[in-house]
Amino acid sequence: METRGNREETGVTFRAPRIEDATAIYDLIRRSPPLDLNSLYCYLLLCDHFRNTCITAERESVIVGFISAYIPPEKPGTIFVWQVAVDESVRNRSLATTMLEDLLERKSLSHARCLETTVTPSNRASMEFFRSIARTRDAAFSTEPCYSEELFGTEDHEAELLIRIDPLARP
Ligand SMILES: CC(C)(COP(=O)(O)OP(=O)(O)OC[C@H]1O[C@@H](n2cnc3c(N)ncnc32)[C@H](O)[C@@H]1OP(=O)(O)O)[C@@H](O)C(=O)NCCC(=O)NCCS
Repeated sequence: METRGNREETGVTFRAPRIEDATAIYDLIRRSPPLDLNSLYCYLLLCDHFRNTCITAERESVIVGFISAYIPPEKPGTIFVWQVAVDESVRNRSLATTMLEDLLERKSLSHARCLETTVTPSNRASMEFFRSIARTRDAAFSTEPCYSEELFGTEDHEAELLIRIDPLARP
């Protein structure tokens, strides 16, 4: 996958994940609270079946960033972003932003008109990240209730809000 200038400066390159990356991605998510840690098998599936809509950021052969995303089967014009993680050592350097922008530039996603994701209201970094993406694209940013606390059963889990960024295309 192509490498752009600012990434060369930071020594970070972006590419689609491979199944061999699943354990490193699992470790990155594990040390990225408040993200939910899913099973290793889940990350294997993402790296295998969903590699065209997921992206890794790599520095000196170490995975320092990951975004999982997919096209919901009943919403072909929407990209749903599942998890975004950047290693603590490289945060606040626009890595999450450039990683998502790189993903959205893929030809396979050129038909996506809208981005959706869910966030817990207390995750300020996540909220600000997606607000910033919407601002850059001059797109509307909206939130609505999505998965209530009750839906998580006995798990102590905050409700998840649905965020929509629409339209995704740059003006
Ligand atoms: C959230 C996270 C992915 C941001 O990665 P990053 O590479 O540091 O983000 P960026 O530098 O690209 O910042 C993007 C925007 O989010 C804002 N932001 C990032 N971290 C923030 C924080 N802790 N608090 C408030 N705003 C924050 C930045 O100010 C920036 O906004 P701007 O463009 O208006 O300046 C990273 O902190 C992380 O992995 N956190 C733990 C996992 C997590 O919460 N994931 C959910 C993310 S959607």
